[in-house]
Amino acid sequence: MRTLRDAAADADVHVGAAVDVDALRTDTDYRQTLAREFDAVTAENAMKWGPLADGERGYDFADADDVVEFADRHDMYVRGHALVWHRMYPEWVRPWTRSAADADRLLRNHIYTVAGRYRGRVDAWDVVNEAVADDGGLRETQWLDALGPEYVDRAFEYAADVSDADLFYNDYGADGLSAKADEVYDLVSDLVARGVPVDGVGLQLHVFDDLVPPADVAANVERLTDLGLDVHVTELDVGIGEAVADREAQAQYYHDVVAAAVDAGADTVVTWGVDDGQSWLPPLGHGEAPLLFDEEFARKPAHGAVVDALSE
Ligand code: G3I
Repeated sequence: MRTLRDAAADADVHVGAAVDVDALRTDTDYRQTLAREFDAVTAENAMKWGPLADGERGYDFADADDVVEFADRHDMYVRGHALVWHRMYPEWVRPWTRSAADADRLLRNHIYTVAGRYRGRVDAWDVVNEAVADDGGLRETQWLDALGPEYVDRAFEYAADVSDADLFYNDYGADGLSAKADEVYDLVSDLVARGVPVDGVGLQLHVFDDLVPPADVAANVERLTDLGLDVHVTELDVGIGEAVADREAQAQYYHDVVAAAVDAGADTVVTWGVDDGQSWLPPLGHGEAPLLFDEEFARKPAHGAVVDALSE
């Protein structure tokens, strides 16, 4: 059976997985599956500010380095995730009462330190993650509070100063055609129009309640690529439960949505994990067994479906 990696090479796209560092260090099956099947990685958590933090203002890059070194060894594309996010950052970054100058310094130092360290080794960065609120407008965060909407510009500008990676805006619930997808479209259109150095948009595509119609994903990818932006599917998973009834329906959806996104111009597809034993969805009650490999690392029908989608 063809690997995802072979099919992706033929289709001239990357197919990746989010990587859990503990599993990478301790589980041979995990490592072998990752290296054999995928040609791209995202650190699921290791490049977020919280896990990187070591005391006040310090950094410990051991976990993130392990992901990047594994990728180097296996000739994999690296998506860095995520420089600016309202979750998983160290407590000392609070409170939200910083002056604009102080917040700006903090933002710049963090981006310079992390994106600068991986210059030439991270190929794409999620520079700003999930900045659009579910009910519209920019999400209330300490960055918005201290710097106003301009914090988004500054984050991309600081990343462009120190990194040669492609710079992405990444969000969830903005995958197909929806009010939030329109908000994300408007946000990135405005960045492009004003010359802010954004190169792409990440559509997370976590599917566990409503099925996002593949045709809507295609339409969204098309309008974003029409802006001159790259589009990556960054966090794909499909929980069995509300959204799809069983492994066969899951496989069909994986096929249809990957084919739609890639045909419309998405050039990287990353699943949010390698195997069903390592997924954020089931513990939260958001569906079962959402990935391409089962807990024993056996290929599921969804694996063949993605290979087919990339081979057509
Ligand atoms: O590291 C601690 C560990 O020491 C402790 O024993 C364990 C007990 O619960 O918790 C561990 O931390 C957890 C961490 O994942 C590592 O497993 C955190 O509590 C937990 O909140 C964290 O969840 C991650 C979540 O982002 C928040 O950062 C998920 O793994 C990760 O899949 C999820 O990924 C996000 C993307 O970054 C952005 N888009 C949505 C996506 C899903 O929420």
